[in-house]
Amino acid sequence: MRTVHSLKELRSILKAYRQQGKTIALVPTMGNLHEGHISLVRKASEAADIVVTSIFVNPMQFGANEDLDSYPRTLAEDQDKLAPAGNTLIFAPPVSEIYPEGLANQTKVVVPEVSEGHCGASRPGHFEGVATVVTMLFNMIQPDMAFFGEKDFQQLAVIRKMTRDLMMPIEIIGAPTVREEDGLAKSSRNGYLSEEERAIAPVVYKTLTHAAQQLEAGNGDFAALEQEARDTLTNAGLRPDYFNIVNSLTLKPASEADKELTLLVAAFLGTTRLIDNLSVTR
Ligand code: PAJ
Repeated sequence: MRTVHSLKELRSILKAYRQQGKTIALVPTMGNLHEGHISLVRKASEAADIVVTSIFVNPMQFGANEDLDSYPRTLAEDQDKLAPAGNTLIFAPPVSEIYPEGLANQTKVVVPEVSEGHCGASRPGHFEGVATVVTMLFNMIQPDMAFFGEKDFQQLAVIRKMTRDLMMPIEIIGAPTVREEDGLAKSSRNGYLSEEERAIAPVVYKTLTHAAQQLEAGNGDFAALEQEARDTLTNAGLRPDYFNIVNSLTLKPASEADKELTLLVAAFLGTTRLIDNLSVTR
């Protein structure tokens, strides 16, 4: 396991692998790794000869009032966690390596439609930041395949559309959400929760499973189910940002004819913003 910080070094290492005919998988992360990230690295190392795990807290995808400064940066612990997960090369560049001219005049990648609504509505510019940095990582690493978690359902949809629209020769592989025993989706942001908040947090997944069961049982009153879910979250002490039942492919509001539905939720618990989702087939 090796960690490189410079793009020049990364490129020369990867060039040699490519010349040997080795396949390369990319797992993009912002670090502070947990089992969710590690599951992606494991899958990647089963699928490709070489895995690159990038660790970069991307300033472009954070809003002005968000947690860029407090976002946990834990490279030494991340290296320890990655060691047993497969032979991954860690790319952990400083901000100056990725945005040498700063953010203000950086070229951006905009992905219409799937970026709009849900987290896109609550976090203006967020998915532009994600699509831009992922494009840059794709160009820097030129992987054969890249792994993303379904935990960030809208992000995965944005990356899939971007890759398709821009003819990027990269296979995008989604992987299931890894959860705590009580159902809470693993997230680096769970570390912000107080003990009291942590005890409340599993209600997010419970609300999803309850609504999903209703849908599976034939309840098609989406608006009522969404309202009930928001009420449940509010009563438990959260501030729901959104709870939306959508078409799994378009992420547009579900219609009666849709068979594949996804329930998308974001809610604040104190100052921590939690997101989760669940897909159902009717
Ligand atoms: P980050 O939040 O660190 O997540 C990195 C990857 O791990 C993403 O693909 C995310 O969906 C996945 N992941 C996070 N929690 C997961 C869980 N509980 N189960 C399964 N997968 C999980 O997402 C980002 O970073 C950034 O936006 C990034 C894509 C790296 C671009 O900066």
